[in-house]
Amino acid sequence: MNAIAVLTSGGDAPGMNAAIRAVTRMAIERGAKVYGSKHGYHGLIDNALIPLELRDVGGIMQHGGTFLGSARAPEFRTVEGRQKALEHLSALGIEGLVVIGGNGSQTGASSFNDMGFPVIGVASTIDNDLIGSDITIGVDTALNIALEGIDRLKVTASSHRRAFLVEVMGRDCGYLALNAAIAGGAEGAVIPEIETKPEEVVAELQQSYERGKTNGIIVVAEGAKHGCDELMSYCRTHPEIGFELRAVTLGHVQRGGAPTAYDRLLATRLGANAAERLLGGEHGCVVGMIRGRETATPYSEVVGRTKGVDPKLFELANILSK
Ligand code: F6P
Repeated sequence: MNAIAVLTSGGDAPGMNAAIRAVTRMAIERGAKVYGSKHGYHGLIDNALIPLELRDVGGIMQHGGTFLGSARAPEFRTVEGRQKALEHLSALGIEGLVVIGGNGSQTGASSFNDMGFPVIGVASTIDNDLIGSDITIGVDTALNIALEGIDRLKVTASSHRRAFLVEVMGRDCGYLALNAAIAGGAEGAVIPEIETKPEEVVAELQQSYERGKTNGIIVVAEGAKHGCDELMSYCRTHPEIGFELRAVTLGHVQRGGAPTAYDRLLATRLGANAAERLLGGEHGCVVGMIRGRETATPYSEVVGRTKGVDPKLFELANILSK
């Protein structure tokens, strides 16, 4: 392969820049030209492909977000959209593509690979719901940002004997909420995978106060069945519950942080490995970290499935929250 392209797609994740840098520098080291696609798949469709040299990817690793831009691109789901992308790539002599992103992005990548264009994915999403990596790029940073929020909220909550709902990202997946709850010493986690009713949340908080706690923190995933709005309105209509409740949404704040050392290293190792594999002739897979090793998992095992949370961790969160 003489030239490859790299893009970041879907929700941005802290560490994406380190992955772009690693893909670029490894590919150049192996003798290939590298192009960056602006705003994910849009850059392929609209011919917004920029050459990347060694210095173009300098000074970006410490920044969150992605200097190439990211997007969700519905047009790439159509054969016509992917056909346009093929034309633009072949006009520049680009023979392979690295897609840094999560589930939706890797589904698009797999379809493109099926059309005969070699693609390799890099596991990147703060949700950690992608099959093929024990942990994905951005999770560590997003978790640490949630923890900073929880630690601070505990301080003010204790001063006022209040309880807080802390909403974290995760439309379909409770990994962040559950792990932030465990690491933050919260009283509970409300996640999409396991239904928790408002009255159960309230009972948990009441029991905590009875055990002598001075605050209560419940971490709620954005996509939980009974989410923050419903929990707040339940408490408003049940003043007899005996404590004051406030809600804080962390949301996109979690995605915007500077990547932690862990995320920079993970992204660097996965990005470099993906470039090496692609230039060595491998494609049709996602590169992730499994048991400490860069590992390629075929798209057939990744696409259309999600990782889910470990129910044992949910149990652990409940035991330790006492
Ligand atoms: O997939 C990553 C993620 O941050 C989810 O946790 C969240 O539900 C979603 O993206 C939000 O998407 P958007 O940035 O389009 O609002």
